[in-house]
Amino acid sequence: MRLILEYYSGSELCSIFRKSIDMTSTPIRMPVAVIGAGAIGRMHLERMLSHADIAPAAVADPTDAARDYAAAIGVPWFADYRELLDRTRLGAVIVATPNSTHADVGIACIERGLPVLMEKPVADTVAEGQRLCDAAAAAGIPLMVGHQRRHNPILRNARKLLADGVVGRPVSITALATWLKPDSYFEPAWRRQVGGGPVLINLIHDIDLLRFLIGDVESVQAMTSNAVRGFEVEDTGAVLMRFACGALATLAVSDTTVAPWNWDLAAGEAAHYAQLDVNSHFISGTEGSLTLPRLDVWRYDGRRGWHEPLTQSRTPVHRADPYVEQMRHLRAVAEGKEQPVCSGSDGLRTLQAALAVQDAARSQCAVALV
Ligand SMILES: NC(=O)c1ccc[n+]([C@@H]2O[C@H](COP(=O)([O-])OP(=O)(O)OC[C@H]3O[C@@H](n4cnc5c(N)ncnc54)[C@H](O)[C@@H]3O)[C@@H](O)[C@H]2O)c1
Repeated sequence: MRLILEYYSGSELCSIFRKSIDMTSTPIRMPVAVIGAGAIGRMHLERMLSHADIAPAAVADPTDAARDYAAAIGVPWFADYRELLDRTRLGAVIVATPNSTHADVGIACIERGLPVLMEKPVADTVAEGQRLCDAAAAAGIPLMVGHQRRHNPILRNARKLLADGVVGRPVSITALATWLKPDSYFEPAWRRQVGGGPVLINLIHDIDLLRFLIGDVESVQAMTSNAVRGFEVEDTGAVLMRFACGALATLAVSDTTVAPWNWDLAAGEAAHYAQLDVNSHFISGTEGSLTLPRLDVWRYDGRRGWHEPLTQSRTPVHRADPYVEQMRHLRAVAEGKEQPVCSGSDGLRTLQAALAVQDAARSQCAVALV
């Protein structure tokens, strides 16, 4: 770490960093800070320790646990993220603090000219998300949102299959997000309160996944329930979505069921998930249907109709850690070599759709997205 900080002793880190890349055949890892070293922040840091493209430069998080963790992995620690930003030479920042802090922390990074990978959701409200996006746009600083599924090769493959027309026009979609969170998960109070539940924490990823595959959401209807856990926050939801392309989707979410049908377990999204041989998302169209994550395609070879045999084909699935790929992408975006796969404004549209689920459940009316 000291080597990295000493190397970046000039005033313009990014230009020095680019020069260093040009001069060496083995690129030096870009120094990246993590603000918020809780559950997901540590997961990022663990991957950064052995990442080929980026290295952990510093951690900001006021807790003793975060200070001890930073010491354990040999990374400078700051209680105040502003002090970290002012005292450390960086190529980019990953923000993994609670949702309500995202806009302020992100804007502090942007004001210092630092590209940001903001954990999802981009913010806790549309207004705060817009404030963050506006700041990034005004400063010309890249803002990315951590919808890491977009970096999963399975999802990219599915997107290509859809673009190639394997299902024809998407018509009817079912997305399942049902699993069991252990009781210990609910120890922090915010996870029992409105906003800390499976709609904004988990289903938002499924909404983003569908947006990535078939485009924007037009309107939402929903019901939620807290009947099993009895917390203020929902434990279960049933959602209907109409997409701009005309497709209708049914999404089921529950964090209180013993079930394997969710993307994280089915896709083996990260090493800490058991990888189960099931599907969680089903896309039916006018010419065929596609399941995820197994990428089964069902089509008619000859005559069409429900009495005719359907042919199943399976696309070989290449598995890779989307968080690792997201970090490679973070560096490429910070260097101006790639555009964000999930930009701030893209993440904001996903947040709008997820908040519409809550509005629809509360009002029991359809909510239109503009
Ligand atoms: N991409 C994903 O799949 C995924 C998964 C989990 C969480 N998240 C997102 O990541 C964020 C963090 O979630 P988590 O589960 O890690 O929460 P967490 O409560 O485990 O960790 C949050 C950490 O941020 C720290 N913190 C709070 N305010 C801070 C501040 N002002 N400066 C620095 N540190 C501060 C806390 O001390 C805590 O250690 C949330 O936005 C959440 O939605 C994303």
